[in-house]
Amino acid sequence: MAVAKNLILVGFMGTGKTVVGRAAARALSFDYVDTDDIIERRAGKSITRIFAEDGEPRFRDLETEVLRSLAALERHVVATGGGCVQRDENWQSMRRAGLVVCLSARPEVIFERTRRETHRPLLQTPDPMARIRELLDYREPFYARADYTIDTSDLTVEEVVARLVHLWETWKGREGATGS
Ligand code: S3P
Repeated sequence: MAVAKNLILVGFMGTGKTVVGRAAARALSFDYVDTDDIIERRAGKSITRIFAEDGEPRFRDLETEVLRSLAALERHVVATGGGCVQRDENWQSMRRAGLVVCLSARPEVIFERTRRETHRPLLQTPDPMARIRELLDYREPFYARADYTIDTSDLTVEEVVARLVHLWETWKGREGATGS
């Protein structure tokens, strides 16, 4: 039987994985990790520089390596990068690591939440809204593979966390999670 060791958050940029992930980790008394942070530490440079100097395929390979190492974790909330859902191998790694919940949001909400930020190379285009819609369309079937989805568009961080904690408790009871 699968063991629900960790809570893995997937979802598009700007759906709240980082802020919700940190708060959910506090609520569950878990540790928090962000795969983008691990990639930056391992590469010794920012995601922006990895994309610019090594290209997106190199970034995706680093991401796959980091996700592979998640299986060793227990009692962590893991925020992943928005594009990791596109590789089958990443899904195998995430499922081995725990419960996978997708955070979603309407394109307009994603646009508002990301428009003043510059650290996401994929949104540094003259028309970020068009890029958001295009990527969301393409990725929709990949996000749909998550165990659960929470639309964060009209929810506060606390409300999303409450739902995550509820999902975790339900899942844990069913699957026999470690560390109760
Ligand atoms: C990406 C999302 C980013 C980061 C990279 C690529 C994507 O993470 O991994 O810029 O392909 O959607 P966040 O979803 O945490 O912004």
